[in-house]
Amino acid sequence: MHKLLASFFVLFLTSLPAWSQPLQVRSPNGLLTVTLTNDGGELLYNVTRFGQPLLNASRLGLRLNDGISLADELTISGFDTRSVDETWEQVWGEKRFVRNHFNELRVTLDTQDETPRRLTVVFRVFDDGFGFRYEVPAQAHLGAFHILDELSEFALPEDPTAWWIGAYQWNRYEYLYEESALSAAADTLHTPLTMETKNGLFLSIHEAALNDYASMTLARQDDNVLKADLVPWSDGVKVRTASPMVSPWRTVQIADNAGDLITSYLILNLNEPNRLADTSWIEPGKYIGIWWEMHLGLATWGSGPTHGATTEKTRRYIDFAAAHGFDGVLVEGWNVGWDGDWIKNGGKFQFTTPYPGFDIDALSQYALDKGTRLIGHHETAGNVMNYEAQMEDAFAYYQARGVRAVKTGYVAFGRQIERLDEQGAIQRETHHGQFMVEHFQRVVDAAARHQIMINAHEPIKPTGLRRTYPNMMTREAARGQEYNSPQGGGNGPAHTVVLPFTRLLAGPMDFTPGIFQLEAADDEPENHVPTTLAGQLALYVTLYSPLHMAADLPRNYDEQPDAFQFILDVPTNWQDTEVLHAEIGDYLTVVRKDWDSDDWYLGSATDEEGRLLRAPLHFLDPGLPYVADVYHDTAIANWETNPLGFARTRVLVDQTTTLTLRLAPGGGAAIRFRPASAEERSDAALPRCNERQRCDADFRPVTQ
Ligand code: NOJ
Repeated sequence: MHKLLASFFVLFLTSLPAWSQPLQVRSPNGLLTVTLTNDGGELLYNVTRFGQPLLNASRLGLRLNDGISLADELTISGFDTRSVDETWEQVWGEKRFVRNHFNELRVTLDTQDETPRRLTVVFRVFDDGFGFRYEVPAQAHLGAFHILDELSEFALPEDPTAWWIGAYQWNRYEYLYEESALSAAADTLHTPLTMETKNGLFLSIHEAALNDYASMTLARQDDNVLKADLVPWSDGVKVRTASPMVSPWRTVQIADNAGDLITSYLILNLNEPNRLADTSWIEPGKYIGIWWEMHLGLATWGSGPTHGATTEKTRRYIDFAAAHGFDGVLVEGWNVGWDGDWIKNGGKFQFTTPYPGFDIDALSQYALDKGTRLIGHHETAGNVMNYEAQMEDAFAYYQARGVRAVKTGYVAFGRQIERLDEQGAIQRETHHGQFMVEHFQRVVDAAARHQIMINAHEPIKPTGLRRTYPNMMTREAARGQEYNSPQGGGNGPAHTVVLPFTRLLAGPMDFTPGIFQLEAADDEPENHVPTTLAGQLALYVTLYSPLHMAADLPRNYDEQPDAFQFILDVPTNWQDTEVLHAEIGDYLTVVRKDWDSDDWYLGSATDEEGRLLRAPLHFLDPGLPYVADVYHDTAIANWETNPLGFARTRVLVDQTTTLTLRLAPGGGAAIRFRPASAEERSDAALPRCNERQRCDADFRPVTQ
């Protein structure tokens, strides 16, 4: 049956259909081995790395309606293997060219009754982890069906440390991550779930290509076994589907150090290639907005004396954006529906009716004339029926006004999402079940029809669909900067050095960095932003997003022109990404190369501890001197007592340089490296930091 019996595939199978021998598939480097067995009728897999158990025997299979089991007493009717090693190009991203290198095992299984049903299980094993999925091919005895349970397990051989948020099924993902033994975590957990084993290996469980299916949460069972717990429909059914069907991939990313999780592209590799024929209108960029002032309580979304979305104020924001080269101006609260308790009255939102004080036609044209654009906003308050009824018109309305990006929102504070069933009765669905997965896809599709990019707040978690639908740019799906506003309670300094190893492994995040008003002001009495000024700048590099906001009020940027320059310079589209330092919850240094130039950018962030980190600049082009613009904490900076202790220093560096970064408690560093001009190379006044001329954390020469 198979010609391919290369060393990557160890197929012990001797006879069909009896299935008494295991099937194995290894990673391209041979270190990871996945073994499938059929133990007393149960379909199981286990995983070893360097021959040591990584996952013990873990169940596979689906239980369907009418007592149909695609899990037990299955016979094997065939298997197939293949290897893929290809490199593909992202439309935009954190790395331009991505290598997709795996070995695949595809096993076809049949039930043993008079009306046999077929299930295919596919494993793809990469050097940095593996994924598996279920396929239910078109077949005679299985048309439409319901999945009542997915049995997939991840049986950890020991009790690792986990960074987790609990999955409260109706709710969103906006919690602070807790760090504990897995055995002490909540009963149900959201993914990505990142863990560190006792011998220092990092694992992250998530899913890829979540389409037409329910989100997977993980239910903690005895003995460190995690079981897929699909978020159900209101009637308890997990997935309504029909053959042919493919499930999302269940993914496990594996790394010897935490930084390698960040540069693993396994989730993207398990998604389908771009389906949009024309992507010329999709452009990463930076934006400002009439936004933070609402969160500070200085302006309102609804009409009244402090209404944020006025024509006059928006004009000023457009002027500011145009003067500084921002790609867009987000305006929230411009459309009718925000008055009163909007969170409870999502049905009142009218997505094509401006408040009288907001001249959207004139403003959208003014923005275009000035070389920028309005950014649209569709807050639904979770009223999906009201939104879907207007959605096509709402995107067309924006498209006609030159709008290229829309932020969506589903604030509902635990309230479920209403839909009408076939009988016209109202059913209430959770935020993460199949209904909402499908809704989000309808939004992305409708937006694409109108050449609009999506930035989704309160969304389904990312699972790499941005590869297939590259107008799905960024999203929230975690606690963002808004929690640092007076009403938010604060995120604490460690949150932004946990997010890159947890939520952001799944995809980009619209965190909205760049708050410069870090000390209590008269009209902003309670400040909870838990970083220094340099710490805010670092987030533009450590937290990846193709659309990044400069979230503060323009007046606060006017007061800090030196620091603001970094926000103006930093790109949001990258050729390459490397991680220099990584300790989950402690610190992180990331360097990224601009997609369009030879510039590199560094972001380094720490928790509440101050640190000295040595950053070797091996990533720079050899032999080329670079000017480094270093935005850093001063020796006395501190997020609580002196958040504006900030300095900007310019030095000449090269590939031999090791820079010492001094991060204040709650602090950070941000650096732009650009090839030096001939003049700068010979400028004796520019301090040198290189192999021979070393310098300290203030970039002064170190004499030995
Ligand atoms: C929550 C979003 O995360 C926030 O950015 C937005 O301002 C409010 N909802 C209102 O839509």
